[in-house]
Amino acid sequence: MDKNKVKKEYNKKIQNLVKLNKHYYELSKPLVNDYEYDQIKADILSLEKKYDFLESANSPSKIVGFKPSKTFKKVLHRIPMLSLSNAFDEEDLVNFEKKINNFLDQKSSNELEYSAEPKIDGISASLIFKKGKFIMGLSRGDGKEGEDITNNLRTIDDIPKNISAENFPDEIDIRGEVFIQNNDFENLKDKFANPRNAASGSLRQKNPQDTKKIPLKFIAYTFGYVNNMEIKNQSNFLQQLSEWGFKTNPFNKTIKGIKNLMKNYQEIEKKRNDIDFDIDGIVYKINSFGLQKRLGNVANSPRWAIAHKFSANKGISKILNIEIQVGRTGALTPVAKIKPINIGGVVVSNATLHNEDEIIRKDIRIGDIVVVERAGDVIPHIIEVDLKKRKKNLKKYIFPIKCPSCGAKTIKEYNSITKKNDAVRRCSSEGYECDKMTIEKIKHFVSKEAFNIDGFGKKIVENFWKLKMIKLPQDIFFLNYEKIKTMDGWGQQSVANLKYAIEEKKNISFEKFIYALGIRHIGFENAKLIAKTLKSPENFINLFKENKIDDLLNIDGIGETQIISLKKFFLNKTNVKVIQDLQKILKIKKTIENKKDGVLSDKIFMFTGKLTGMSRAEAKSLIEKNSGTIISNVSKKLDYLIIGEKPTKRKVEAAKELKIKIIDQSELHKLLNKSS
Ligand code: IVH
Repeated sequence: MDKNKVKKEYNKKIQNLVKLNKHYYELSKPLVNDYEYDQIKADILSLEKKYDFLESANSPSKIVGFKPSKTFKKVLHRIPMLSLSNAFDEEDLVNFEKKINNFLDQKSSNELEYSAEPKIDGISASLIFKKGKFIMGLSRGDGKEGEDITNNLRTIDDIPKNISAENFPDEIDIRGEVFIQNNDFENLKDKFANPRNAASGSLRQKNPQDTKKIPLKFIAYTFGYVNNMEIKNQSNFLQQLSEWGFKTNPFNKTIKGIKNLMKNYQEIEKKRNDIDFDIDGIVYKINSFGLQKRLGNVANSPRWAIAHKFSANKGISKILNIEIQVGRTGALTPVAKIKPINIGGVVVSNATLHNEDEIIRKDIRIGDIVVVERAGDVIPHIIEVDLKKRKKNLKKYIFPIKCPSCGAKTIKEYNSITKKNDAVRRCSSEGYECDKMTIEKIKHFVSKEAFNIDGFGKKIVENFWKLKMIKLPQDIFFLNYEKIKTMDGWGQQSVANLKYAIEEKKNISFEKFIYALGIRHIGFENAKLIAKTLKSPENFINLFKENKIDDLLNIDGIGETQIISLKKFFLNKTNVKVIQDLQKILKIKKTIENKKDGVLSDKIFMFTGKLTGMSRAEAKSLIEKNSGTIISNVSKKLDYLIIGEKPTKRKVEAAKELKIKIIDQSELHKLLNKSS
């Protein structure tokens, strides 16, 4: 069949679907019945399956099932919804426990008690109850702000709407997983890639009647905000949940010590295929709420919990080629193109080779037969080469000495801290001089934690770049929407959505702005620290102009590596231009510090020497919780130098000279107790 004819036919169908959606979702006047509507969608999907050149932002394959609404109200979570860090083997668990014991200043052999809960692979939700009534339900969103999907959650039978138990807290956010059972998914197989997608698509419907069509389940496992709750540990809380009428995971257990966690893990993994919902690992939580509170969070995940992922599925395939991808910071990542194989239900045709050293270490060559592993959402990778099957004529793989994108020299940097050369080879050009790096920088700029522009995905960045519509991040704000309307796959509505999403993000927080610039070694946490200190973008630029970048070393958490990277970043004229142009277009919100009403508010501390009964990290988080600040150099700003065992003489002397108060740990506790 003629390619153009197919495209034309396809576009006609897409436009028809857009029209039907508009009538259904926006005007609430459906033009066809559900059956006909599903037929039209199925038609489009089957055309896409047959001709892989067909693609549209309005295709049901892109918008999973039904059209997700972009109009859910955004609501702040009273307590953020965190994510979990992962463990893959016993060693990871041993390290997890060790870190906890270190933080609590306990012997590293101390065995801890955990709540072990099989991790359901669904969509998390937070249900707000006031006086026993379910009043609002939110999706996780970005963890800080969720979407109000109350009406859709109301359709789920497992969610109690009224709880009259006497000991049910006055106000509580109950959190858990919305998912779809495997037997129910059987009937939906044609519409969705997997049960998780089906649950997610269903939850994000504008019309709750559509949500109702898909039988969703809910299992509760934690809480966010709560007032007045007496419960002392997680296993008692789980018990309470079921007494209050929530479903909980029947495979939850309370377990002491890593060896026993491993035993349970193996037992559950064996049962995995017989359970009627998808689980992708086991979540371990320190059982005691008291210890959880002491441990607190690192970045976006709690120190007191970890997800132990099930072992990966493996497969054998052949390396057809090795391609080099260029990342945002110039890192060259080799990717093996392999003969497609099905691993655990997913077709794998790419596997990461990590970096140059990995290829050398495993002596991976084009043409080799290899073992490929795929674990959950982690990118598949190559475990080993089957040397017995290697043909004699295969040549060693030589890593490119020039960047495949811009031709600049590739280099391996010397790391002065580890005193070794980096394992990663990089393109030596400075950011925007290399096309591939630029594309990746723009992808980062629009990504979720940065500008989070709805609907502006990686494919769109690549496409607009190819069409020379964007060359630098600021070009995003000057798109030619009239031109986009005429482009394949775009229509009136999708362009209007894009325009709206971009305009909406012209208001941006200072920390997101810094993060979005994609400066090497300045991840989200560092961006937050810098924003908190500098407060406004003017100060950011001035820092460079006035040659004061070194001042940032005073921030606890910012080190030499970040300073070198920032200096390098500002020396590049394009980088400075990007910031200046963006400042003209955007409204960058100054960083307003959270109200500092703790007992240590405005007080600046520094430690020297070893503390007792508590690690340095715990003391730091304790001070910060009470609105104090920690710095890592003695300076005039310092209010208190806290000395433990064997303090550094030089620091104590310097503090004495500046007449700074020198206190010990018990005096710190006294300061803290003033609050109670
Ligand atoms: S606790 C405290 N408990 O895993 C931080 N999460 O990667 C996390 N999940 O977003 C929540 N089963 O969607 C917790 N028993 C369980 C869980 C569980 C599944 C999911 C949840 C969360 C993600 C964290």
